[in-house]
Amino acid sequence: MTRMSTLFSLIVVAVLAFAGAVWQVSWREAPNTAIDADQYRSPTGPVPAAPQRDGARDAGRHALLNAPYVSCGIPYGAYLRLNPQTEPDALVTGREGRNAELPFALTSHVNEDGVEIVSNNCLTCHADRINGELILGLGNAFGDFTQDPSRLVLQAGNYVQGKAETKAWQHWADRIDSIAPYVQTKTVGVNPAPNLTWALMAHLDPETLAWSQIPLIDPPPVDPLPISVPPWWGMSKKNAMFYTTVGRGDHARFMLLASMLCIDGTKEVAEIDSYAADIRAYIVSLEAPEFPFAIDTGLAAEGEGIFVRECSACHGSYGEEETFPNRVYPVDEVGTDAAYASDATDGSRDRFFDWVARSPYGDIHSTAPAPGYIAPPLDGVWATAPYLHNGSVPSMAALLFSDLRPKYWRHQTDPRRYDPDILGWEHEALNLGQGAEKDPEARRQIYDTTLRGYGNAGHTYSDALNDQARAALLEYLKTL
Ligand code: HEC
Ligand code: HEC
Repeated sequence: MTRMSTLFSLIVVAVLAFAGAVWQVSWREAPNTAIDADQYRSPTGPVPAAPQRDGARDAGRHALLNAPYVSCGIPYGAYLRLNPQTEPDALVTGREGRNAELPFALTSHVNEDGVEIVSNNCLTCHADRINGELILGLGNAFGDFTQDPSRLVLQAGNYVQGKAETKAWQHWADRIDSIAPYVQTKTVGVNPAPNLTWALMAHLDPETLAWSQIPLIDPPPVDPLPISVPPWWGMSKKNAMFYTTVGRGDHARFMLLASMLCIDGTKEVAEIDSYAADIRAYIVSLEAPEFPFAIDTGLAAEGEGIFVRECSACHGSYGEEETFPNRVYPVDEVGTDAAYASDATDGSRDRFFDWVARSPYGDIHSTAPAPGYIAPPLDGVWATAPYLHNGSVPSMAALLFSDLRPKYWRHQTDPRRYDPDILGWEHEALNLGQGAEKDPEARRQIYDTTLRGYGNAGHTYSDALNDQARAALLEYLKTL
C-alpha cells in the first residue's frame, strides 16, 4: 500500500451508522422536539416496512462516485505531493474529471475558496476486493482504524503550501482533532462508524448544524465498539438500516449523515438530500456477487433442506420464491456479543437519538434502537466474512460450529487470500491475546474476543448438526 492510501484508510469520514428515523417529509420540516427514548424504543420482532422515496439508479451511482458529500479533506496539492501515482487497480469506471484519476475511495471537488479538496467517500468502508475483483457495496473487512487520525492529518499538514491550502487543511484538521479520541478501534478490520457519528453530533447544534469546537453535549465513551460493515445489497430486502434496526423510516435520509464530518449549516444538507434518494436507488439495485469457485451441487441440494429446517424462520428463503422475515431477535435469544445493542438501549446513548429527533435529519417518527440484532439476509454471505455484527468469527466453518471459533486470531494479509473451503479470509488462530503482545504493531493485528464488544459467543443454531450436515449446509450457503 502506498503511504497516502494507508493514510486515507485511517482517516475517518462521517458516516451514517447512527440513530433516529425519519418519514417522508422534507428534511426542512423537522419539528425540533425531543423524543422520549423509552416511548420510542424500537421493539424486537418484525420490522415494519416504511415508504421510500423514488430515485434514479444510474444518477445514484454517478453521485456516489463523484459528488462532494464529504466537503472537507486534504488539499489536492498536498495529496499529490504525498502520492504522485495511483495504482491502476484502484480506479473504477463512471468517474469524471479528476475523480477518474483518483483511487475509488477518494473524491475531489473545488471548495468555495477555490481550493481543490480530496476527501474520503462512502467506498472507504463500503467496497473491497475478493479474488482480484473490486465489489462495490461489499463491506471493507481490512480497513485500519487503530491509529490516531489527528497524528496522520498533522503529518499531511507538512505537505500543504500557501494560505488557501492551509485554511482548507485547518478546517479538516479541526474536525478530525475533535473526533480522534472516539474512533480508534483495538484491532484492524473492524469499523468505528457509530461512535464516530455520535462524536460529531456532540459538536453540532442539532437545529442549525453550526459547528462548535467545544462539545455541546457529552461525547460518547472513547472506545468505539467494533462493527463489521454489512453489504449494501442486503438493503433491497431490509426494512431498516443497521444491526439494531435504528434506521427505520426514510433510508435515503440517513445517508445525509455521511456528510457530518465537514457540515456547517443546513444548506449543504439540502444539496446532498437532492441526490440521496438516487444513491439509495443504486444501493438497492445491487445484487450479491456469485461464488467464483466450484460448488458441489448434490451436496448443496442436501444443505438446502437443512437450511429450510434450521435457518429459514429467521433468515428467509432463497431461490425461486424468496421470503425475508425482517425480524430483530433479542440479544438474550441470539446470544451474540451484547455490548452494541445494550449500550444503545440502556439510556446511555439517548442524547444522540434525541439529537437526531431535534435535527433536520429527524422528525416525529424518530426512534431509538431495538435491544437486539436483525437476522440479516444471507444473499452473497460467502463474501461477507468475518461474520456477526462485530466481525468476531473469521469463517463460515467456524460460525456453523462454535467449537471451531478461535479466541484470538489474525488475518493473513501479505497477500490476503480468500479460502473457498471455509468461506473466509485466510487467518491463523493464536495462543495469546492483545494483553500478552508487547509490540503495538503486532497487537493491533490480533482480534481478541475477550475484549469488550469483541466477543464471539452465541448463534449456536447449527452446533447440534453432525459434520456431514454442516458440510452440506456450508455448500448450500455458497449458492446464495
Ligand atoms: C467509516 C466507514 C463508513 C463510511 C464512510 C460509510 N459507512 Fe455506511 N456503514 C458503516 C457501518 C459500520 C455500517 C453498519 C452500522 C450498523 O449497522 O450499526 C454502515 C451501514 C450502512 C448502511 C446500512 C446497511 C445495512 O444492511 O443495514 C447503508 C445503506 C450505508 N451504510 C450506506 C452508506 C453510504 C451511502 C455512505 C456514504 C454516503 C456510507 N454508508 C458511508 C460504515 C461506513
Ligand atoms: C432465531 C433466529 C436465527 C436462527 C434460527 C438462525 N439465525 Fe443466523 N442470525 C440471526 C441473527 C439475529 C444474526 C445477527 C447476529 C449478530 O450479528 O450478532 C444472525 C447472523 C447470521 C450470520 C452472519 C451474517 C454476517 O454476514 O455476519 C450467518 C452467516 C447466519 N446467521 C447463518 C445462519 C444459519 C446457517 C442458520 C441455520 C443453521 C441460522 N443462521 C439460524 C438469527 C438466527
